[in-house]
Amino acid sequence: MKILVVGGGGREHAIIWKLKQGKRTAKVFCAPGNGGIASLATCIDYKATDIENIIKFAKNEGIDLTIVAQDDPLALGMVDALEKEGLRAFGPNKAAAQIEASKSFAKGLMKKNAIPTAAYEVFDDAKAAKAYLAGCTFPIVVKADGLALGKGVFICDNAAEAVKAVENIMVAKAFGKAGDRIIVEEFLSGHEVSVLVFTDGKTVLPMESSQDHKRVFDFDQGPNTGGMGAFSPSPYYTAEVEKETIDKIIMPTVRAMALEDCLFKGVLYFGLMLTKKGVKVLEYNARFGDPETQVILPRLKNELLDVMDAVIDGRLDQIQLEWDSRAAVCVIMASAGYPGQYQKGFEVMGLDTIAMLEDVMVFHAGTQREGEQIFTSGGRVLGVTALGDTLRLAADKAYTAVQRLSFEGAYFRKDIAMER
Ligand code: AMP
Ligand code: GLY
Repeated sequence: MKILVVGGGGREHAIIWKLKQGKRTAKVFCAPGNGGIASLATCIDYKATDIENIIKFAKNEGIDLTIVAQDDPLALGMVDALEKEGLRAFGPNKAAAQIEASKSFAKGLMKKNAIPTAAYEVFDDAKAAKAYLAGCTFPIVVKADGLALGKGVFICDNAAEAVKAVENIMVAKAFGKAGDRIIVEEFLSGHEVSVLVFTDGKTVLPMESSQDHKRVFDFDQGPNTGGMGAFSPSPYYTAEVEKETIDKIIMPTVRAMALEDCLFKGVLYFGLMLTKKGVKVLEYNARFGDPETQVILPRLKNELLDVMDAVIDGRLDQIQLEWDSRAAVCVIMASAGYPGQYQKGFEVMGLDTIAMLEDVMVFHAGTQREGEQIFTSGGRVLGVTALGDTLRLAADKAYTAVQRLSFEGAYFRKDIAMER
């Protein structure tokens, strides 16, 4: 089977790595891909949002399935466009992808269906937002409504910080049109857990739980990033918490989407906060998480293509997910300066020494291949992942691998998956 994966980060590398382990995957293409993906797939030089050229390519190449893994092409309606041309695609359509692409849509859906989440207000006007903030208690959370690469969320400890966030999003337009509207919401505290599910809009198959580390520095300090590491499973996601999450959050969300004419088919990601008052939704994503995918897919025993086919064909009730009982840990190696400004173009050394390590996978994010050499080309560069009998053992193995890898200015957190 010929498969095209749309995207070019660590998540896509993990998806392709998993597809290639299956019996049914003959050839994989990736748009645009990266230096690591290039060793498993043919990378084609189209941006993930280039719907027109990706459709042309899929037709000319006779692609059997296109997997849209990245948020922005989903929000732009790439799945709708592919299907309109009679091409098979995995991922939610544009209407369903709103659950991630518009936080106000997601919050409205939760409010209407009594799905537990932080209390909030929506603003289309900076002045009104600032006036509202004058009467708030802090900390408070200010979020851009649209897609912002995981960076459009500001946790503000006082009014001055909140006003600065509003100005940054709505006036300076740090995230472009994604900041035409903002959400101001209640600050929640507790342990964060990510739960991803496969759903065909009716049946829901939850994946193993995971957690990512969003802040750039150890002990959750510094600004939010796209994710500095992840681990699976989460020790906090007990059977009891799981039941509450499925009954009060996951099933009501999937049913509500169907009722809103936004039937969700694909991977739905629930970003959860385990608060003292129960589990609450922080965010939804309409796709596999990054870097959660890098710790979940190495644990999945099923052939990924079988599960994806069942989602597309609406027969997920015939599938049972099977999991490796071992834990997985992913440590992100990033460029110095990320998530702010950083330099690119440094050679990555030591990759050839990793093949000898058992149960270690290096998923590339921001890399570029030139001949046999790999160079840095983004903020997050590598996701060094390992499986182990416990989280601790998996983390030790991942960090052993990290020590063998280097590039100028390489930065990584030292506390991924550490108990705190
Ligand atoms: P989001 O993109 O909405 O998940 O937000 C990114 C990160 O900001 C989350 O993973 C949390 O760590 C944090 N965050 C978002 N909303 C809240 C909230 N209401 N209370 C506390 N932390 C939050
Ligand atoms: N790890 C969070 C995300 O994928 O958006």
